[in-house]
Amino acid sequence: MTQTNRLGPAGRVAYAAGQAARVAWYFGQYALAARLSGPAVPAQRRPAGAATPDTRAVLAALRALMERDLANIEAGYYRMPHDLVPAPGRVLADAAAFFADLPAVARRRRERSGTEVRRAPPPGSERLPAYYRRNFHFQTDGYLSTRSARLYDHQVEVLFGGGADAMRRQALVPIHRHLAGRHRAACRLLDVAAGTGRFLTFVKDNHPRLETTALDLSHAYLAEARRRLAPWARSSRTVVAAAEAMPLPDVSQDVVTCIYLFHELPRRVRPLVAAEIARVLKPDGIAVFVDSLQHGDDPAMDGLLRLFPVAFHEPYYAEYTTADLPALFAGAGLRVCGTELAFLSKVMVLAKNRLP
Ligand SMILES: C[S@@+](CC[C@H](N)C(=O)[O-])C[C@H]1O[C@@H](n2cnc3c(N)ncnc32)[C@H](O)[C@@H]1O
Repeated sequence: MTQTNRLGPAGRVAYAAGQAARVAWYFGQYALAARLSGPAVPAQRRPAGAATPDTRAVLAALRALMERDLANIEAGYYRMPHDLVPAPGRVLADAAAFFADLPAVARRRRERSGTEVRRAPPPGSERLPAYYRRNFHFQTDGYLSTRSARLYDHQVEVLFGGGADAMRRQALVPIHRHLAGRHRAACRLLDVAAGTGRFLTFVKDNHPRLETTALDLSHAYLAEARRRLAPWARSSRTVVAAAEAMPLPDVSQDVVTCIYLFHELPRRVRPLVAAEIARVLKPDGIAVFVDSLQHGDDPAMDGLLRLFPVAFHEPYYAEYTTADLPALFAGAGLRVCGTELAFLSKVMVLAKNRLP
């Protein structure tokens, strides 16, 4: 049973003030970046039917997400975020780096140049799959450098107006439910495409003794993840590998999470990753999938989904937004047990089909 965690008026005010400051900070930078480098999609390149919600509607949806986040904290599903208000020195340095990089991002967007990383490949990256060697989001170095790893989370928060962490945290609810009553130190959680480990810091903050594995193709991103997960180093490990061929034993994981990966995979790769998730999951385990909304999930946001892959280099996204995810997972022997929308994300809980 969940132990509630009523915050009281002071806790609720602290949460509200922290989130308001966060949204103002990141949303403000989104607006300033648009002013400095021009609209992300010029009028002549706007896809047909891409009527987007106005700022007021986006902010209302963001507020609904924060209210859900707070309700989850008060219900005891997870703790108050460990760095709701991050260290001022760090956020200022991140913002400075973000704006310093903005002209290069704007140039790539203007030139529609999404494969710069292939022209000057970092050592060792030639062996990485071609679909991956791209400047996703038009970001400098793609996923292939320390500089990119340092900037990534800031860029994502700017993109989502400060809501990225709260969207990821929705995955903590099914994880809490699944682990309730289990001995955490004997349970394993794998985060597929863990990136810089941001989500795992929330997992660890709530389940410090859980054995976690962060798997990703990027050396640089996993180095950043190790730095962030250092307080829990004894129960954390990182694995540099492709999600479609994970060097992990069959039926070894109690929980598998996969956050914001599938929209960056070509159609032919997605079933391979789904099959790998099913393979490593224990028979009674769960997988928690968090990724972008798809068309029709929240019709008010459909226009944004059309604009996104044009504004930010996302070569597989448009096709992803119409993919039949339940059928994709069914092909891997996974059934959808629950689906929730959270602002611009969709959270799906998956379980293995029982053997007849
Ligand atoms: C959009 S980021 C998401 C990172 C993180 N899960 C988050 O919540 O922000 C996509 C991540 O997937 C990784 N990635 C992409 N294709 C991959 C693959 N085939 N195998 C493993 N990791 C992959 C990238 O290196 C990057 O870290």
